[in-house]
Amino acid sequence: MLTIATSVDDSFDRMRSKLEAEKARPNHAIDPYFYRSHLVHEQELGHLIFRSWLYALHSSEIPNSGDYQLIEVGEDSIIVARGADGEIRAMHNICRHRGARVCEEVKGNRRTFVCPYHGWVYNTDGSLRAARETHVMENFDPDAHGLKPVKCVVYMGLVFINCDMNAGDLAASLDKIKEPLGAYDLANAKVAHRNSYRVDANWKLVVENYLECYHCATSHRAYARLHTLKDLNEKSEPIVQKMLDRADEVTGIPGISKEHTEIYLDAPSFGACAHTMRYGLFDGYVTGSKDGKPVAPLMGDIKDYDGGAGDFQMGPLAFMLNYPDHCVLYRFLPRSLTETDMELVWFVRGDAVEGKDYNVEDVTWLWHHTTQEDDYIITRNSAGVNSRFFEPGPYHPEFEATLQQFISWYLHSLEDSLPA
Ligand code: FES
Ligand SMILES: [Fe+2]
Repeated sequence: MLTIATSVDDSFDRMRSKLEAEKARPNHAIDPYFYRSHLVHEQELGHLIFRSWLYALHSSEIPNSGDYQLIEVGEDSIIVARGADGEIRAMHNICRHRGARVCEEVKGNRRTFVCPYHGWVYNTDGSLRAARETHVMENFDPDAHGLKPVKCVVYMGLVFINCDMNAGDLAASLDKIKEPLGAYDLANAKVAHRNSYRVDANWKLVVENYLECYHCATSHRAYARLHTLKDLNEKSEPIVQKMLDRADEVTGIPGISKEHTEIYLDAPSFGACAHTMRYGLFDGYVTGSKDGKPVAPLMGDIKDYDGGAGDFQMGPLAFMLNYPDHCVLYRFLPRSLTETDMELVWFVRGDAVEGKDYNVEDVTWLWHHTTQEDDYIITRNSAGVNSRFFEPGPYHPEFEATLQQFISWYLHSLEDSLPA
C-alpha cells in the first residue's frame, strides 16, 4: 500500500474552498487535494460509493442454494448469497451482536453463517437462526437482529448491489439499454474467466483512465490496432457509420446499434447510470482478440460479425465491452485512499466448452494486456498527481468529455454531501 503525507488540519471548510476553486477553473484536471485527503475519501465512501449501484457478480457464479461470494468495498465486506428459496440477496458481513465478520472465505457454500466470536448463527437469507443463551435476555427479539440487508437487483443475470436501502430503480435505467444489452443473452452466458487487479492509485484516477481513450494510441498498441475509438470522430466516422448501417441486419438483432446515455448527473436516480453505443473495429477485424479474429462462438442470437462492438455502462463504476463472440466487464471498487480493485470478467455463451469452443488464454489476451498497460500508466499518473507541485492541465474537449461528466458528478456529489 502506498502511503502519502496527510494534512492534519483538513476540514469541511477546506473541502468547501477547494470545491469553490474548481468552479473558477472549469475543464481542467482537478486539484491533488481530492486524491490525497482522508476526509474526502471518507465522504466519498459514505455519500457516493455506498449510495451507488455496484456490480457484484453473475448469477451463474452462485447457482445453488447456499452459494455465496463476498464483495469487498472500501473497508467493508458484503455477502451475496443464494438463499434456500433460490433468491439472491445481499447483506452486510457484520454480526448483529458485537460486529465481527460472520464469513471469512471469499466464496463457497454454506447452510448458515456462524459468527466466529460468540457463535450467533444466521441463515443464508440473513435472518438470525440462533443466538446462544439469549433466552435469559428479556425483550431480545431475534427477528430484529438479522444481518443488515443491502439492496440487490438481478438484471439479465448481472447482480448489482446498493448499500442505500432507498436507492432508485436501477432496472428502470437499464431497461433503456435492454435491446443492445439483450443481444448477448447474458442471463445464460457463462463466466470464462475473472481476474482482479489491485492498482496502487486512488479510485478516481482508475475510473478516469477508463473513461478516456486519449491514451489508447500511446499506451495500448494492440488495442489501437483494432479499435476506432482511439481516433477523433472526424477520422473514425466513415468506418463507424458503415458498421452502424449494417449492424442490425448482419447481427440479426434489431436495435443492437441503439444509442442511449444517461450517466452521472444525467442518471435517472443517483448512481443508476446507463449507457450504450456501438463503435467500429478497423476493417479486417471482427472482435477484441490478439489478431482481431473470433475466439469463441457467437453470443446469444447474434448471427454474424458486423465489425462492431457494444460499449456499455451500468452504474458509475461498471462497464462492458461486448464483442459478438465474448463480453468483457470492468468493475472498479475503492479499497483505500491509494488502492483500487479493478475486476475484469470475461463472458462467453453458456454452452461453449472450454478447450473445444474457446481457450481462456485467447479470450482474455487483449484485455488482460491492456489492463496491465493501464496499471502502468495509472500508477505513474498517481505518483505525479500526488506531488505538491502538480498543476492541473486542460482536458481534451472530445477525448476527455466523458471523464469530465464523471468529474462534474463527483464534484457536485461531494459538495452536496457537505454539512450545511
Ligand atoms: S460478535 Fe458475533 S456472536 Fe458476538
Ligand atoms: Fe487504457
